[in-house]
Amino acid sequence: VSMNFAEQSTSQDPALFHVAVIMDGNGRWAGRRGLPRPAGHRAGARAVRRIVEAAPSLGISTLTLYALSSDNFNRPPTEVSALMRLFAEYLERERRPLAERGVRLQVIGRRDRLPAALRTAITRAESATAEGRALTLRLAIDYSARDEIRRAVAASVASGTAPLGTAPLGTAPLGTGAPDPFAAWPDVDLLVRTGGEQRLSDFLLWECAYAELWFTDRLWPDVTAQDLAAAVADFRRRDRRFGRISA
Ligand code: IPE
Ligand code: IPE
Ligand code: MG
Repeated sequence: VSMNFAEQSTSQDPALFHVAVIMDGNGRWAGRRGLPRPAGHRAGARAVRRIVEAAPSLGISTLTLYALSSDNFNRPPTEVSALMRLFAEYLERERRPLAERGVRLQVIGRRDRLPAALRTAITRAESATAEGRALTLRLAIDYSARDEIRRAVAASVASGTAPLGTAPLGTAPLGTGAPDPFAAWPDVDLLVRTGGEQRLSDFLLWECAYAELWFTDRLWPDVTAQDLAAAVADFRRRDRRFGRISA
């Protein structure tokens, strides 16, 4: 079996359209209104609903939303715990409507530092929506791309099943029959960041190798379906070359 390096880097199947969003600006949105930061996060959850509803009609098959970075644990404990409660409430409230709309929900990131109530809400939502085929919605909670990569590499090395160097990363290691941890990480086609900053903040570093980047100053709670449509329209006009020359 020969490995084609040009095909290895990203999925180009037009039926698979993966959009990832760094939902930033909740705190500033609240601050401008003289509200406490958690009020901004609650408004952010309403924006999530709008964006999730709009995604399938824009051709999006996978939507990954950055809800909490591992570094966000460095915020005041009151804000962190307000976020944890908000996530659990969101999952409890949305589980059924998501299932009814054919949305499959998955949570990525560490779970061992989450409160038990949130872990339960996650498991329930994941199993209630497991049959969804209209959209895969991935929520990144206590997520760090570096941590995920570090763990995958450590696990591969420890198990000895996927010795690094026998196959290009992201392809199935040959002859071992072992699943490649990197293969489970879907390439991002379009990365959106709201809130004006232009950085990755440890989100999907591996998966964004060839992502198109789109930034807006709009604060996340103000984001509408029209903003998402504008990002997608922009994406459709881009020439993705993957290292080749234009067709
Ligand atoms: C993004 O909004 C949500 C989380 C990081 C949990 P922020 O809370 O970072 O909002 P700003 O950047 O302070 O405005
Ligand atoms: C990134 O936003 C994390 C999420 C949106 C969940 P931050 O607001 O935490 O990122 P920095 O600190 O500005 O890089
Ligand atoms: Mg921020």
